[in-house]
Amino acid sequence: MAYLKVEGLAKAYGEAAVLGGIDFSVEEGEFVSIVGPSGCGKSTLFSIIGGIVRPDAGSVILEGKEITAMRGHVSYMPQSPSLFPWRTVLANALLGGEIAGDRNEGEALRMLEKAGLSGYENKYPHELSGGMKQRVSFVRSLLTPKPLILMDEPFSALDDFTRRDMQKWLLSIWSGNRRTILFITHNLDEAALLSDKIIVLSRKPARVKNVFTVPREREKREEWLLSDDYLPFKRSLLRELNGK
Ligand SMILES: Nc1ncnc2c1ncn2[C@@H]1O[C@H](COP(=O)(O)OP(=O)(O)OP(=O)(O)O)[C@@H](O)[C@H]1O
Ligand SMILES: [Mg+2]
Repeated sequence: MAYLKVEGLAKAYGEAAVLGGIDFSVEEGEFVSIVGPSGCGKSTLFSIIGGIVRPDAGSVILEGKEITAMRGHVSYMPQSPSLFPWRTVLANALLGGEIAGDRNEGEALRMLEKAGLSGYENKYPHELSGGMKQRVSFVRSLLTPKPLILMDEPFSALDDFTRRDMQKWLLSIWSGNRRTILFITHNLDEAALLSDKIIVLSRKPARVKNVFTVPREREKREEWLLSDDYLPFKRSLLRELNGK
């Protein structure tokens, strides 16, 4: 039985069909990236899996139980950081744990330090840069004690170096404590570095065009990404993304 199963998800906003019947499944502990053209419905898909938006048709099944339109089953890092302006960085990071009755300040402080936010624990969101807000939201999603995490372009506001650090950190957390991760990105290299599988969506109304299994063991991925060997894989992803 698949850990997460998404079946026939369809959603329209008024006349505009956004999701045109999305089906895929994810195994427990997998790291799965989702790529697709801008505006194709990736964030809409996540807000449905997160239970925030109700689909017009289809269902979301987690560990055999239907969770369609039900909140509180997953950790969800939205595309815009959505921090509470009246809470400090630390209090924002602790939010998911607090809601679940699992508040761990020591762990939050350690994670904020790892995310390069030492000294900012007691600042408020308006005092942070966009990339810093994104990292607080990232830490919050990691601290939310749920076995499935949805991350919507978590590193899009970061410079290349910081992004690299965060990718490595995410992989080390993930390999130490195998949660299941669904990860939206526009960056194919990032998807190839991190994922077990990459789901390619079509233009809207989105459907699954193809699912690629990333070859190579994770330990060898950095080297692979710099080699000529990687290009055919990237080319096939691009072809799928850009094709009709
Ligand atoms: N609440 C809403 N009301 C009306 N239309 C919406 C709403 N949310 C999203 N849309 C529309 O649905 C489509 C898909 O939006 P969505 O944010 O899911 O795309 P996306 O793939 O995440 O895009 P991006 O890559 O730019 O983040 C867009 O055309 C958008 O305008
Ligand atoms: Mg989006």
